[in-house]
Amino acid sequence: MSETDRAVQVLRAGGLVAFPTETVYGLGADATSAAAVRRIFAAKGRPSTNPLIVHVSDVAIARRHATAWPESAERLARAFWPGPLTLVLPKTPDIVADVTAGLGTVGLRVPNHPLALELLRAFDGPVAAPSANRSNHVSPTTAAHVRDELGDAVDVILDGGPCAVGIESTVLDLSRDGRPAIFRPGGVAREQIEAVVGPVDVVARTISSNEPAASPGQQERHYAPRAPAFRFSPPPPLENAGPNAAILVAGSVYRLRRKTPHMPYLMEMPGTPAEYAHHLYAALRELDALGVDAIYVMMPPDTPEWAAVRDRLIRATRPL
Ligand code: TXA
Ligand code: MG
Repeated sequence: MSETDRAVQVLRAGGLVAFPTETVYGLGADATSAAAVRRIFAAKGRPSTNPLIVHVSDVAIARRHATAWPESAERLARAFWPGPLTLVLPKTPDIVADVTAGLGTVGLRVPNHPLALELLRAFDGPVAAPSANRSNHVSPTTAAHVRDELGDAVDVILDGGPCAVGIESTVLDLSRDGRPAIFRPGGVAREQIEAVVGPVDVVARTISSNEPAASPGQQERHYAPRAPAFRFSPPPPLENAGPNAAILVAGSVYRLRRKTPHMPYLMEMPGTPAEYAHHLYAALRELDALGVDAIYVMMPPDTPEWAAVRDRLIRATRPL
């Protein structure tokens, strides 16, 4: 039996399948089974108030799970699916309430990865899948990250290599009257969306973790490494960094250096937003694996092309 067939059997039996997407690895379960979906929340230690994204294999199937499909949804789906854009729409009852944390809306997306699409076609049903990490930790971008973090809690891990995009999808709300609203910046930039449907609002914001979240990716500490992590804008206040610290800076290529054991590690990140995003979570995991006591992140410029990377860095760090 192929790995995909085995994964389909596991989904049908109410089990958990980790699978690659172009953004990050997902932890999937049958979105029509409350019991299966509850296993996702248990494996991640995720609060039941944070809704999951539902993955499907094409636009026609996505439409079946939404009670309204505005012109904007059609245009965006045609432009960006399969791809890193999640559309929030009013949901049909077949998506169980556990998936959407009781909300009347569902986040739908068609992922752009051959293994994910193969799985979704073979399963022939909606798959609820958050990122396959423990709640509030860094999302996995390789199968090994999933294994290290969730281990036996997952029944099957499909290995599709490293994720191309490296950060999560853009979550766009189309469920209300008025302008579409970006709940979470991500793989599709605001400007790309606006080129297709005109102006959008950005309601992504950081809220403190004890405030209830309207869209829960907004929790302040999210996507964070284990080591305390701080952000700063140039110039670097590096007297603060002890020898067992690491400094994350934009350079030209992805590489880790340390001049002498008495100096902090220097994690050089690529100089372009897409390449930076591609390596970001792996870099944070690598520094955690080194056991550094702190991570200092030099923030990339506050310009539109860096918006999604900056969002993740802000959630992963505190101001210095
Ligand atoms: O790229 C991605 O989106 C990955 C891959 C696996 O598809 N998934 C992912 O899932 O990042 P997760 O659960 O880590 O993040 C889902 C985000 C959360 O911020 C959640 O609050 C928001 O989407 N979301 C999901 N359904 C929603 C809804 N009905 N209304 C508002 N926000 C929603
Ligand atoms: Mg996540």
